[in-house]
Amino acid sequence: MCGIVGYVGPRPSQDILLSGLARLEYRGYDSAGIAVVSADGDLEMRKRAGKLQVLRDDLAAHAMPDGTTGIGHTRWATHGGPTDANAHPHLADDDRLAVIHNGIIENFSELKAELTAEGFTFRSETDTEVAAVLLGREFAASGDLVAAFRAVARRLEGAFTLLAMHRDQPGLVVGARRNSPLVIGLGEGENFLGSDVAAFVEHTRNALAIGQDEIVAITPAGVEVTDFDGNAVEVEPFEVVWDASAAEKGGWSSFMAKEVSEEPDAVANTVRGRVQGGAVVIPELDGLDDLFAGITRILIVACGTAAYAAQTGKYALEQWTRIPTDVELAHEFRYRDPVIGDDTLVVSISQSGETMDTLMAVKYARERGAKTLSICNTQGATIPRESDAIVYTHAGPEVAVASTKAFVAQITALYLVGLHIGRVRGVLAPEVAAAQVAELEAVPDKIRWVLEHEQQHIEQFSRWMADTQSVLFLGRHVGYPIALEGALKLKEISYIHAEGFAAGELKHGPIALVEPGQPVFVIVPSPRHSGELHKKVVSNIQEIRARGARVIVIAEEGDAAVLPFADEVLRIPLADPLFEPLLAVVPLHIFAMGLATAKGLDVDKPRNLAKSVTVE
Ligand code: F6R
Repeated sequence: MCGIVGYVGPRPSQDILLSGLARLEYRGYDSAGIAVVSADGDLEMRKRAGKLQVLRDDLAAHAMPDGTTGIGHTRWATHGGPTDANAHPHLADDDRLAVIHNGIIENFSELKAELTAEGFTFRSETDTEVAAVLLGREFAASGDLVAAFRAVARRLEGAFTLLAMHRDQPGLVVGARRNSPLVIGLGEGENFLGSDVAAFVEHTRNALAIGQDEIVAITPAGVEVTDFDGNAVEVEPFEVVWDASAAEKGGWSSFMAKEVSEEPDAVANTVRGRVQGGAVVIPELDGLDDLFAGITRILIVACGTAAYAAQTGKYALEQWTRIPTDVELAHEFRYRDPVIGDDTLVVSISQSGETMDTLMAVKYARERGAKTLSICNTQGATIPRESDAIVYTHAGPEVAVASTKAFVAQITALYLVGLHIGRVRGVLAPEVAAAQVAELEAVPDKIRWVLEHEQQHIEQFSRWMADTQSVLFLGRHVGYPIALEGALKLKEISYIHAEGFAAGELKHGPIALVEPGQPVFVIVPSPRHSGELHKKVVSNIQEIRARGARVIVIAEEGDAAVLPFADEVLRIPLADPLFEPLLAVVPLHIFAMGLATAKGLDVDKPRNLAKSVTVE
């Protein structure tokens, strides 16, 4: 939520900042702004409400002097609407200091009252301007931006990544972070700061992760990281594993289209290097067997689509580890005094690794003595660093706000974790594990089959459905979280009312929604593998058909039993029941994307949303 970029070096910074912001725009697109210290030593700033293009057009129409020190921001509004005035950067100290911010400063009202009483005035409704004015006040006293940050950071409550630069200290950008992301990019004679590595990956793949409550100062010559008291701290270097082209749209019509096409690779790459002789051996968990000893319960915490991946993975985890496994929305978890301790393994799932709700749940679990394992797609992110163990999903950068390839990678990673724990604890027979591994390894080709054989058909079908007002999704067992995911994706990018239900729950209330013509997607389990369940779902289909529903089934190729009752059939290849979700979700992703496109909507940047939700 909010994208941040900073640059110091020999090059003019405006283009560097704007292209960094373009890569970070998925984090928010309510407004954008940049500030530079110009060659004449002036602080120049431009900011505009709306997407980054509005700012680009403005700069193209009215050029701004360039400079080699700069900061840039793309906003997801929290305090104050998406206006020019509320856009970042915010200026202070007689417009000689520029500040950008990601997060929420919870005690901003008290601080604002204090500053107002001292005679300071404000031009925006944001919490950020309070930090800017505080920094300006401290800079006026010390003439040193790092010292000003030390004085201010300790007074701020909540979550923040703040970057600032001052006209009187050109060649210096200072940042501080608490509970919000910030990474450093190391160049040759130039350095970068970014909310994530996408901000600078086209310039360098050498990065440093900054810890909690730390201040970083970058100059062209180097990087200095200290804690809020000024003590030097160790930083963790890492190499960005993907290159800039991985985060480019290429020839695709949208990032979402590209990312759906990458779902097979997301699964394959997440499995790669983690199977030895038919057994799952996750190198990152090497030497961490103790983490799984004495565990009597697994609790998975996540939000949104990641939580549906968690719900899908729960079935396999319980089956393979024989450990009771629950799923909880991260934002509900820590506010109810949950019963957890050192016999609980808390698994968090997060594509961004920055979701504040999930981060807070992980911290809370650790404080209560639980063991923590993070499944994450983003190197250098905060949640993995707050966890005892990390298993990365290798989906590559996900740019579209709606999560697709990360979802299948998250289920894959959970399955790998389940198979790993089952082996370590000796509860999973090697031949059973080997059969499941073979199923998992077959998934990428089966997803490719769906893309090759069904994508066009689904896109055409979604165009016919463009005027639909409401869609229901039904599933049972592992099909249930897939129904929820199908509904979420449709709401999120096409703004159509959609709801997912457990098919068995229908008769307990939701069936009242069904009237003639109501489209209902039904995820049908395989008749070969899940005979009983298949019959039950076919009965549920009869119940809704009897009430006039228009039934769209996602069914295994060759499932003749369901054909007479379906108005539309979207086919998937045969798979073991636990692996069906990885196939059944693909038509739903394509459908949501097709329908939103048919409505002329921007599938990559749905309204009101941002990809990385770094506020609670
Ligand atoms: C939906 C979507 C969101 C995220 C959720 C968690 O398409 O993308 O529901 O899944 O905000 O995000 P991460 O995985 O980054 O923690």
